Amino acid sequence: MSRRVGLGAAVAAALWAGCTASPVAVSPTSEPAAPPTQAAPTAMPTVLPLGTVPAITITPVFPPPGSTPEPTATPAATPVVHVVNGNDLLAPVNKRNSLPANFAPGDLSDVPVTMAVRAGIRLRRAALEAVQAMVAEAQAQGLQPVVISGFRPYQEQEVLYRGYVARMGEERASRISAVPGHSEHQMGTTIDFSSPSAGYQLEVAFEATREGRWLLQNAVRFGFVLSYPRGKETVTGYAYEPWHYRYLGIETASAVNASGLTLTEYLNQR
Ligand code: DAL
Ligand code: ZN
Repeated sequence: MSRRVGLGAAVAAALWAGCTASPVAVSPTSEPAAPPTQAAPTAMPTVLPLGTVPAITITPVFPPPGSTPEPTATPAATPVVHVVNGNDLLAPVNKRNSLPANFAPGDLSDVPVTMAVRAGIRLRRAALEAVQAMVAEAQAQGLQPVVISGFRPYQEQEVLYRGYVARMGEERASRISAVPGHSEHQMGTTIDFSSPSAGYQLEVAFEATREGRWLLQNAVRFGFVLSYPRGKETVTGYAYEPWHYRYLGIETASAVNASGLTLTEYLNQR
């Protein structure tokens, strides 16, 4: 199941973030449809100065051979039911609900490179302030959560999604990557995290790192919720992504956690 796919773009570090089904090596071109290559050995990563990491490997969310399979994915071509307002922090952006293609938040700001894998990752102001506070607390405890991606415009999502479809077919692609207009990343309030201990990769193994465990326990205090939890693919429409957190504000994030529902269910029932 595990395979590595050469991709494009340094910017693809952000582009591909959170959207893979198998190890995906990000190389410095912008072409996302390179053919599969052999998996590279996974060495313990060297801690590099943030903002200078040369390449990112994004890994798979499909379970490894021999593990308990997640339930079958939802159909790839789910029709759009509603177009929602992306300025609403609680907009239910999911497989059924879309953002307008031309939507981009008006208050995007750069994530400092002291906590990001590269310069130029942008988030909405409220999400940025929250993640700065969260990462500061984690760093004070000796952890290094790293922002791998944030805001992703419709056109970048389109490139990503098409690349996955070309590589693995629509059904499988749609388990790991949102159709353009349906990605929470377009809201500017969603972050993919990794860490030096995970090799700056977006992979299921991140859940077992100190940073991954800390985020799972603490993100809610800062207003973030994990959008695509393990074992909920039939509900969320997406395979498990232990790195993909969406900012909702502390009150709503706490309510989502207390509800026992996935974020998808919670926002759909509002
Ligand atoms: N990987 C998530 C589902 C996205 O593409 O937004
Ligand atoms: Zn993501």
